[in-house]
Amino acid sequence: MPADESSGTLPLRSEEDIVASRQKVRALTQQLKFSLVDQTKMVTAASELSRNTLVHGGGGMMVWEVLDEGVRRGLKLRFEDEGPGIPDLKLALTDGWTSGKGLGLGLSGSKRLMHDFEIETAPGQGTRVTVTRWK
Ligand SMILES: Nc1ncnc2c1ncn2[C@@H]1O[C@H](COP(=O)(O)OP(=O)(O)OP(=O)(O)O)[C@@H](O)[C@H]1O
Ligand SMILES: [Mg+2]
Repeated sequence: MPADESSGTLPLRSEEDIVASRQKVRALTQQLKFSLVDQTKMVTAASELSRNTLVHGGGGMMVWEVLDEGVRRGLKLRFEDEGPGIPDLKLALTDGWTSGKGLGLGLSGSKRLMHDFEIETAPGQGTRVTVTRWK
């Protein structure tokens, strides 16, 4: 993969953008030769987190980065918005808890699908969710 294609940014401002982010993550995991199951895990998490960025965060962006540490390669995704933030992160990560009409499984489910999962958020400070899956 050329060096200039090891990272990039996509907007998350509409349903079409969510479709585009899913397609980008699918293509990146294919380039990294993830198994079909692992591709789907990453695409599923990206889809949930993109939707949270749009629905709860009021829109934002996805930053992707291919990680190449020689022995291991992976894909890191960061979802960021400047929305209201998450006041109680522990609660938000509880299976089945939603502030809206969702299933409340997006955040907790995404966490289980990834190897690394980190959230930076505070009321009024927006939200940044960073996830990584290694091959
Ligand atoms: N980017 C965000 N900004 C603000 N709040 C968020 C953000 N992402 C998640 N949340 C909060 O965390 C809660 C849990 O998120 P989660 O994705 O698990 O459930 P959900 O989006 O409500 O339902 P679904 O199962 O459809 O994803 C949300 O209901 C929302 O209150
Ligand atoms: Mg959600």
